[in-house]
Amino acid sequence: MDAKTAAKATGTITVGNKNWEFPVYKGSIGPDVLDIAKLYGESGLFTYDPGFTSTASCESKITYIDGDEGVLLYRGYPIEQLAEHGDFLETCYLLLYGELPTPSQKADFDYRVTRHTMVHEQMSRFFQGFRRDAHPMAVMTGSIGALSAFYHDSTDIADPTQRMIASLRMIAKVPTLAAMAYKYSIGQPFVYPKNDLDYAANFLHMCYAVPTEDYKVNPVLARAMDRIFILHADHEQNASTSTVRLAGSSGANPFACIAAGCACLWGPAHGGANEAALNMLAEIGSVDRIPEFVKRAKDKNDSYRLMGFGHRVYKNYDPRAKIMQKTCHEVLAELGIKDDPLLDVAMELERIALSDEYFIEKKLYPNIDFYSGITLKAMGFPTTMFTVLFAVARTVGWIAQWKEMIEDPKQKIGRPRQLYTGATPRDYTPISRRK
Ligand code: SDX
Repeated sequence: MDAKTAAKATGTITVGNKNWEFPVYKGSIGPDVLDIAKLYGESGLFTYDPGFTSTASCESKITYIDGDEGVLLYRGYPIEQLAEHGDFLETCYLLLYGELPTPSQKADFDYRVTRHTMVHEQMSRFFQGFRRDAHPMAVMTGSIGALSAFYHDSTDIADPTQRMIASLRMIAKVPTLAAMAYKYSIGQPFVYPKNDLDYAANFLHMCYAVPTEDYKVNPVLARAMDRIFILHADHEQNASTSTVRLAGSSGANPFACIAAGCACLWGPAHGGANEAALNMLAEIGSVDRIPEFVKRAKDKNDSYRLMGFGHRVYKNYDPRAKIMQKTCHEVLAELGIKDDPLLDVAMELERIALSDEYFIEKKLYPNIDFYSGITLKAMGFPTTMFTVLFAVARTVGWIAQWKEMIEDPKQKIGRPRQLYTGATPRDYTPISRRK
């Protein structure tokens, strides 16, 4: 913990007639924290915070979100500026190393990542074991974990060189695995990466090229894909990143940790929301059906939620959603899609929701998943690939947070406690005497 976070004050917890004092640390921006690590030892009390709504699990220097202002910073740089001026591999370098690369650092990083994009040839046999109609996220979770069966020379987490090689391998190989998952699902042959293409163009080429003819990547779509990767790259201690950190805290190898994060991202409350949001827009189907769905979303007795709306941290517009919406219009214009009924439904649903008392009072705004599905569908991806694309982008965030956790001298295995409300001690009854 550096000087910024050194104890600046203390906080007191009072239970009954007892008081306990704990240090308060100040970050560079954002809420102060009360260090309660000694609470149980001194008071015999646990804190209780299901979903960790008020709990900081770690100290981090990577990403900062101001949910009330709708601000997202990667290593201090606003997401709007990075998405506008940089490319995804520059963002990867920034998240991993903490600073924007110089021209020579960028060229070297691009070179190193590009030359790790091929996967071990036997990985293609691994894919043959899946059903063609397997959800691509099942394939991704399995194949990312399987990387640890191939790259033994980068699984020693105590070796910083091996940690960096594993990081580069993941950033480079996950798009290749994602494209393979897509090709396998549509029965087309795998397409090898091409070193003369940049990251996003290479990914689109692996997804859409076929052996029978040359495939030219549309530069506007490649730029849109690259920007979508930037928007999804990292996001503080979200569920999948926390999963990666917890898995990594046991010393598990980096490939296994990223596979765990991928599994968590799949959930519809998290990274699976982009697929769920597009399915929701398709289910609504037309603008005149929006009121019945908004009514259901507001009904306390109905668990139905508007997918792509709301966020644990953003209580204002998700800054990524605004850039996503702009990218959506660019892609539709480039593809000559004049009136996409799904976009009409999305725009009208957003207008209605943002003017509805329920959404205003609960501070529910569109999040990154609201417009991404329309964009990705227009680019030719099936809905089942949407979360896979999120995983491709988030791999660098998972890796950067995993490295930070491993290199944090304070880190130890994560092991939360509980509030136990189960049976109190009782004696075993032999089955012969149970009624
Ligand atoms: C991502 O954490 C991250 O940073 C995640 C992410 C990242 O980049 O890693 O940003 C990516 O996961 C974005 C979120 C994608 N998920 C969805 O779009 C699914 C729909 N949204 C929700 O399920 C929900 O908003 C969450 C899961 C995103 C956040 O849930 P919280 O913070 O636990 O909030 P909550 O469930 O306690 O909701 C607060 C209130 C509740 O009403 P009350 O019980 O107080 O009466 O708001 C309501 C909820 O019922 N509510 C919604 C709603 N989301 C919350 N009502 C209708 N529609 C919704 N979408």
